[in-house]
This record gives sequence, structure tokens and C-alpha cells, in this order.
Amino acid sequence: MRMYDIIMKKREGKELSKEEIEFFVNGYTKGEVPDYQASALLMAIFLKKMSKRETVDLTKAMLNSGEIIDLSSIEGIKVDKHSTGGVGDKTSLVLGPMVAACGLPVAKMSGRGLGHTGGTLDKLESIKGFKVALDKQEFIDNVNRHKLSICSQTADVAPADKKLYALRDVTATVDNISLIAGSIMSKKLAAGSNAIVLDVKVGSGAFMKDLDDAFELAKEMVDIGNSMDRNTVAVISNMDEPLGYAVGNALEVKESIDALLNKGPEDLMELCLALGSRLLVLGEVVSSAEEGRKKLIEVVENGKAYEKLLEFVESQNGDVDYIKTPSKLPTANHIVEIKSKDSGYIKSINAEDVGKAALSLGAGRETKESKLDLSAGIVLAKKIDAKVEKGDILAYIHGNDKSKIEEATQILYDAYTIGAKNTNAKKLVFGVVDSNDIKRF
Ligand code: URA
Repeated sequence: MRMYDIIMKKREGKELSKEEIEFFVNGYTKGEVPDYQASALLMAIFLKKMSKRETVDLTKAMLNSGEIIDLSSIEGIKVDKHSTGGVGDKTSLVLGPMVAACGLPVAKMSGRGLGHTGGTLDKLESIKGFKVALDKQEFIDNVNRHKLSICSQTADVAPADKKLYALRDVTATVDNISLIAGSIMSKKLAAGSNAIVLDVKVGSGAFMKDLDDAFELAKEMVDIGNSMDRNTVAVISNMDEPLGYAVGNALEVKESIDALLNKGPEDLMELCLALGSRLLVLGEVVSSAEEGRKKLIEVVENGKAYEKLLEFVESQNGDVDYIKTPSKLPTANHIVEIKSKDSGYIKSINAEDVGKAALSLGAGRETKESKLDLSAGIVLAKKIDAKVEKGDILAYIHGNDKSKIEEATQILYDAYTIGAKNTNAKKLVFGVVDSNDIKRF
């Protein structure tokens, strides 16, 4: 078999066999297939697409490239949640403690920020001492003892995806349905949980910009999960503006603490309830999503979810004083107000641009080697549909470097569109896909 022939076959739009897909994935993981041939094939896949069968074979080849974690020593149904990537998306920090406080074990391997999208591990590292690199046994022990652990993906889990994702990131081949589905599902299946809720984001800050594409991606991932005996459900959610108000690592931790103290932004809480209630159903804690919502609201209101956050942070070596007194979290030297130049209604906030503004301040990585500024970011003061007068504050920039703040200011101004009132009500959840059904709301 030769890579040249595989690239040519896909370039002509033909279906690759299981053996050809395995030859590529295994060869690239071992370093036998060079980057230039892998890049050419990724671009051919991007342009000519993959069939459902090819996507399943790609997922399995990536899954089998490394270790499959055995969580059977943890009692009960273990659940996991994964987002396709967004701006201001701190749901894992809020949802994890909420679901664990309901007694359901959450075993989650998370990632770092990528491009304009944030990563849970970076956010958690704003808490002094917090340890994200756990070995397998520590991860299992933590889930057993505390019902919640969030750690970095070990090098042995889906190494093919690790290499391919880094290559896709620099060859403009991320936003393809088969490649995203294979990437996410190979990692989720390798991480060993029994049930998975996927948060498929759509909108200006998401990889999927089109609603039909987001439903297609959701269906593809749900089918892959269920075909491999993992109960998988996807929620399709709006990423046309950042989730909540805070974008940036420590700023998002602070907003998550507020949320668990029952003072969180409405959209963040609503999404946590939509995702969390489905997790509780899959974990057989409740029999309906409605019952799940009630249970989740209860653990926020009675303080159990907040206590679970403290317990979780302590279990991973984090300093709980940073949670009890959030002013201890890293803070920026400068906070700059961004004021509206016009009067009217906020028609749109380009979430990708807000993510890019945060990235330019140091909240994200320009290159894999970039060092993060955990204190940097943006806090929105107003979101879509709010009425504004000229001179009203739209957002605050938190930064430490004056030239970076200037750059972020320009990007942020361009992100806002002020105009006439929107006539369509904004929606947070567009639908749910499970093994039997595709529901559009
Ligand atoms: N998140 C992933 O893990 N993989 C992708 O391809 C896109 C988002």
C-alpha cells in the first residue's frame, strides 16, 4: 500500500477502505507517513468528504492507536461531557460539580485552549496548585472518592488524534464533519465512560457555522457512540455570542464560582441544566430530563454543588482559598472600558472575534509553545438584544500589556454590531439528537 495511491483515491472522491484508513492513521502515528502526505490526504478528505462508514473506520483506527481506559473499577454508570469548542464556555467547571453533587460519577479528560476557543485545563490552572496531570489510578481513585475528576488526556489516549489535530490546526482542515467526529469520538471512547453527552456548538464562535451541519455532526457522533455501546446524546447549542459574560481563564473560573453560588449568568445556567439533565437520565439517576433539571437546581440552591467544587479542587491539590476568595485568582493590572460609539440594540457579537481579542491579550495560545496570561481576557457588559446608548460600556478588557490591549480593543469594537432591534428571539438550544430521534426546537 502507498500513501500516494490513497491520496489520489480520495482526491478523486472515492471511498477509502478500512485497511487504507488504518494504513494512514497507524503510519502517521508511528512517524512513517510524513506531514506533507498526511496534510495532502486531510485536505482531500476535507474537500471530498468521507462516508459514514469511512468516518467510523477513521474513529476506530484513532481509538485503537492508543490505550483504552478501563473504568470498570468505578462503581455505577460513569458519564462524560464534551463540547465541540466555544468562547466563554466554562460549562465543565459548573456542570461537573452539579452532576457529581447528584451522586453521578463524572470522569472527564479535558483539553487545552485551541485557536480562539478556550480549554478547561488552562482555566483550572488559574487555581494555585491545581494538578491536571493525573495518572490513571489517581484519576480512577478520585472519581471513586469524589464522583468527579477532570484531568489532561494522557499521552497514551488516542495519540493519532493528538498528532492529527495539531496538523489540522495548521492546515485549515479542522472544520470538517468526519474529521471532527473522529477526533472527538476517538478520545471520548478511549476515555472509558459508559455514557456521553455532547455539546455541539453552532454559530460565529463555533467550528460549525451552519445549523444543518451541526445537526449532521451531532448525528454522526451519536451514531458512532451508540454503535460502540456508549449511550450518547448530543445537544445543539448556540455559540453566536460568548457563553456567560467572562472570556479568559481566571475570569471564567470566577464566573463559574458565581454560578455554583447561584449567581450565574442565565445562559450558562440554562446550558448546564440542558446538558446536565441529559447526563442524569443517561446515568439512570432520574427518568426524565425534567426531573433532572429539578435535581440540578436543588443542588445549586442548597449549596451542595458549590461544596462539591471545593471538594474537587482540594482532591486535585488546588488551593481552596482561591475558590472561597476569588479575588486571589490571577488579576490583570489594567481594566479598560469599551464604550459604545452608537445608540441602538446589540444585533450581534461575533464570538470568534471576542475569542481572538482574548487570545491577543494572552488568554489563548498563538502557537503551541505560547505562555498563557491566566489573568487576561474580556468581560462583556452587555449581550445580544440589549439596548445601548452611545457611551454605554459594552465590555471590559483585562490585560497587562498596553499594546496588546490596543489590539484587543480594535478587534472587540469590530465584534459588536449595533442597530435596530432583532425581531427573532434568540435561542440557546436548537435541538437534541439521540439514538432514536432528532428533535429540533
Ligand atoms: N474538538 C476536538 O477535540 N476535535 C476537533 O476536531 C474539534 C474540536
